[in-house]
Amino acid sequence: MSETSPISLTRFLIEEQRAHQHLNADLRLLIEVVARACKSISIAVGKGDLGGVLGDAGTGNVQGEAQKKLDVLSNEILLEANAWGGHLAGCASEEMDDPHPIPDAYPKGNFLLLFDPLDGSSNIDVNISVGTIFSVLKCPDGVTNPSAEHFLQPGTMQVAAGYTVYGPSTLLVLTLGHGTHVFTLDRELGSFTLTRRNVQIPPDTREFAINMSNQRHWEAPMQGYVEELLAGKTGPRGKDFNMRWVASMVADVHRILTRGGIFIYPWDKKDAGKPGKLRLMYEANPMAFIVEQAGGAATTGRDRIMEVGPTALHQRVPVFLGSRNEVAYVTEFHRNHD
Ligand code: AHG
Repeated sequence: MSETSPISLTRFLIEEQRAHQHLNADLRLLIEVVARACKSISIAVGKGDLGGVLGDAGTGNVQGEAQKKLDVLSNEILLEANAWGGHLAGCASEEMDDPHPIPDAYPKGNFLLLFDPLDGSSNIDVNISVGTIFSVLKCPDGVTNPSAEHFLQPGTMQVAAGYTVYGPSTLLVLTLGHGTHVFTLDRELGSFTLTRRNVQIPPDTREFAINMSNQRHWEAPMQGYVEELLAGKTGPRGKDFNMRWVASMVADVHRILTRGGIFIYPWDKKDAGKPGKLRLMYEANPMAFIVEQAGGAATTGRDRIMEVGPTALHQRVPVFLGSRNEVAYVTEFHRNHD
């Protein structure tokens, strides 16, 4: 095989296992199972109306949000694929109230898998990119039937994290703690192929991603920060900023991974008692790990996301992530205001 042969996900994982002791065979196979499930989800997303998968499921999830048929289907695909692999002690999904036990009929492993099976639900029916986000933790020693408390580990304890984007091409973005790497699904071969190794997010940016329609609900430092961005060249930042908002975190984060930017879902007073919209365990932590491994930064506006001590499985946090100098600027802006 020549040095320039395409590197499949399988080969990449085996080479990573040889290079880094912490990546054992179970973790490698777990990632392969998740990737296989994501291929199935990609096929379902791609069929769209032809597969009868668009529209509402007529159910609600633990967050009280209406579920789409594809939310439910993607959740089932991930649960089913991971049940019998023997690598998991348990899994938890954004779509389910409680952790999902591994059926007694199958052997159990040492890892915990958390996932948002289909991120960007509002974009499913309008043919815009959606994705899957996942995070892998170690199950505490001696625990064979993990409950919610065993999943409540800070993001720094993640051993792997990734997301897929079901867009014009299907991409898998993965970190095992040694850089962030991008794989593209070769639809003819049915396998993920390494297409970008060690992605680096540019440290500075002129692009921000935020849902501006919530502006009136933000706290004062957010108002002040965005005012500076909108002031452009003649304002205190001395440069013009552009805005992009897909409303699928996977797509917005992938743009930032590719060309820099800052993604923000801040605290707002719209949903009293809910500090932001995004979930710490299913969205913020895995994305923070991926972004940090690509040279970026991720904070709650005040603290590093991966150091937040989780208190609930479906906990929400404000999210500021992307180009590290811009994240540092807005974080400092908040701290100076406190
Ligand atoms: P969900 O997990 O329900 O699909 O949530 C999508 C998230 C995230 O992907 C996106 O960044 C954000 O919600 C969009 O929020 P707005 O509806 O406020 O634009």
